[in-house]
Parts: sequence; structure tokens; C-alpha cells
Amino acid sequence: MAESAPQSVLVTGGAGFIGSHTVVELLQAGHAVTIVDDLSNASPKVLDRIARIVGPEASARCTFHEVDITDEAALDAVFVEAEAKAAARARGGDESRPPFDAVIHFAGFKAVGESVQKPLEYYSNNLGGTLSLCRVMRAHDVCSIVFSSSSTVYGDPDEVPLTELSPKKMATNPYGWTKWMIEQILTDLAAADERWDVVLLRYFNPIGAHPSGLIGEDPKGIPNNLVPYVAQTAVGRRDAVHVFGDDYPTPDGTGIRDYIHVVDLARGHVAALEWMVGRHGVEIFNLGTGTGSSVLEVIRAFSEASGVDVPYVIEGRRAGDIARNFADASKAERELGWKAEFTLADMCRDSWNWQSKNPEGFE
Ligand code: UD1
Repeated sequence: MAESAPQSVLVTGGAGFIGSHTVVELLQAGHAVTIVDDLSNASPKVLDRIARIVGPEASARCTFHEVDITDEAALDAVFVEAEAKAAARARGGDESRPPFDAVIHFAGFKAVGESVQKPLEYYSNNLGGTLSLCRVMRAHDVCSIVFSSSSTVYGDPDEVPLTELSPKKMATNPYGWTKWMIEQILTDLAAADERWDVVLLRYFNPIGAHPSGLIGEDPKGIPNNLVPYVAQTAVGRRDAVHVFGDDYPTPDGTGIRDYIHVVDLARGHVAALEWMVGRHGVEIFNLGTGTGSSVLEVIRAFSEASGVDVPYVIEGRRAGDIARNFADASKAERELGWKAEFTLADMCRDSWNWQSKNPEGFE
């Protein structure tokens, strides 16, 4: 990847699973980071762990604000403070600099099942937070945004691999609709005002953890997603993995997904951020590996990585699940010069390293 000028980046949801890994990669690439997170689904301990990974020089470029982005006044205050710092850096104010060069927007509720129970909370928080963020950005002349979207917008695909031109389909739950709708909101914004520069990153299934074992996924309650459940089973917190269906039209009958190491995903954000400089409009990138793995392959890979024979039971299908999805990630490689490098074995090794060193997560 070419050397790129350091940027000042606001990261909403920067204390969460993908956010924290992205903050590490941004700091290690020389950028300055302002994290905004309300800690509703993240631990404050993450901040100290990030500092331990990147060391004192890089962590001096990181600041944190405990702010809920739906609180527009509080968010505005973060921009005002950053603006004052940018002005001071521009020595004497001969040059008016925006408070941030770009925003990476992760903040949002993300539990599929919960979104079905609490649609109003999901729409209010995810859409409301994005709208207030964009209003504050516009008011301060910050118009570059990278959005944390999902392959869920492709719904149940007619064919795989999925390219960025594959059709968006109906979402099956409010969480999925919020991703779908925020993509549309940002697209409309860029169409209406040519200052905006929008990158929509569609993640496939992020798993794994930082190789240091200091940060990783720490779901509250019973995990909804496969790999955290497998990891908690391996460490003895759960009895057995429930495999949701073995009668799909796939080689072993279980669902196929494109699992991607969270560090690869984080680096995809850095690549997108550096690629965006000087551009306008909307661009979409799939972030996946291009390879699908079945549920049973994941359990097997995790058992090998951990040395624990992870027990599982076959159950019925989970409502809303699809048989398979995986990415065609060639656009990101072509345009961003980014490609996933870690294998499924690496993902399981790092996930196990995190889980075994932190059996109760950050607590
Ligand atoms: C899920 C969400 C998706 C979201 C993504 C975030 C659903 C329907 N989709 O994707 O919208 O963007 O998480 O990471 O929830 N499985 C089991 N046992 C388990 C858990 C999962 O067998 O305990 C299977 C599933 O049936 C699926 C695969 O494992 O085949 C992956 O499931 P999961 O990790 O929940 O991810 P997705 O469903 O792909």
C-alpha cells in the first residue's frame, strides 16, 4: 500500500469489536483517532488494551469521548473541540481546517434477534444516530464518511459469489433494514451535495481477534453468532454448539459463510480511508475473503486450533438464515489494493487465543 498522509479520523463505535481493531490499525498506520462511543455494548477497558497494543507514541494520537451519537449537542461539542485543536495546529489560524478529515461510522445496535423484538429502538438508534452524525458533519464541513455496512443487504442471493453489483434484496429483520436504509440515506446525501464522499463497506462474517489476545469480541449474554458461541463452548461456558440445520443444499448440509479475520477487515478500512482522499460520490466495496466455509468446517477448524474437541448438536434451521453467501472481493483488491490475508485457521487460532486468555471477555 502506498504511503499516505496522516489523517485525523473520527471513529464512532470505536470501542466495539470491529471499531477497536480498526482504531489499532489506524494508529499503527500513523493516523490520529478520536473515538466516540457510548459504551452501551463495549467495555472501557478496551481503551487501555488499545494503548498497550500500539504503544505510547501512537496512543498519544488517540482520544476518547463517552458520547451517544444520537445526542447531537454532545456530538457537536466533540467537533467544536477538535476544530479548536485543528486551528491551534494550523498556527495562528492562517488556514481554516475542518476538525476531522474523515469519519468511520460503526456505532449502532447489531443484534438481529433483539432488533425483531425492539424495532423502534433499532430504527431510532441506528437511523437517528446516523442522521445526527451527518448533520453535525455537514455543519463542520466534514463530508467524508466510511460506513460499516453488511452483506445482509444482499438478502438471500440468487447466485454467489456476490459482487457489489449484485442486487440488494429485502432485509429479513430491522437490524438488516437499518443497514439497508443507511446505505440509501448516505447515497442520497452524496447525490444532493457534491462535497460528500461516501464509502459503503459491506462486511461478510468478521471473526477472530487481535493476535495479541488483548482485544476481541465480547458479546453480552448468549452469543447469537457462530464463532463466539464455538469459542465459549471450547472454553467451557456452553455445553455444545447448536448447528442450525444440516439440510441446506451445500456439500455437508450446513450453512456456508465468508468468514473474515477482523484484523483484515480493519485494514480494509484504512485502505478505504486512504483511497478516498480527493474523491467525491459513493463507492461500495465488499470486504470478504472470497471463500465460503460451512458451519461444520468452522467447528472442525476451531477444534484443531484450540486442541479442544468442540461438542455440537444438529438442530433445525434458524428463521431468516440463508444457505450460503460469500464475496467476490476483487473490486477491493483492484481499487484499494487490499486483500484478506488470514486463513480460517488463523482466525480460529486468534479467536481461541483471545477467548482462553479472557474467558469472561473484558470482565
Ligand atoms: C448474522 C446476521 C447478519 C449480520 C451478521 C453479523 C442473521 C440471520 N444474520 O449473519 O445480518 O450482519 O450476523 O456478524 O442472524 N450458526 C449455527 N449455530 C449458532 C450460530 C450460527 O449453526 O449458534 C450458523 C448459522 O445458521 C449460519 C452460520 O452459523 O449458517 C453463521 O451464523 P452467524 O454467525 O449468526 O452469522 P450470519 O447469520 O451469517
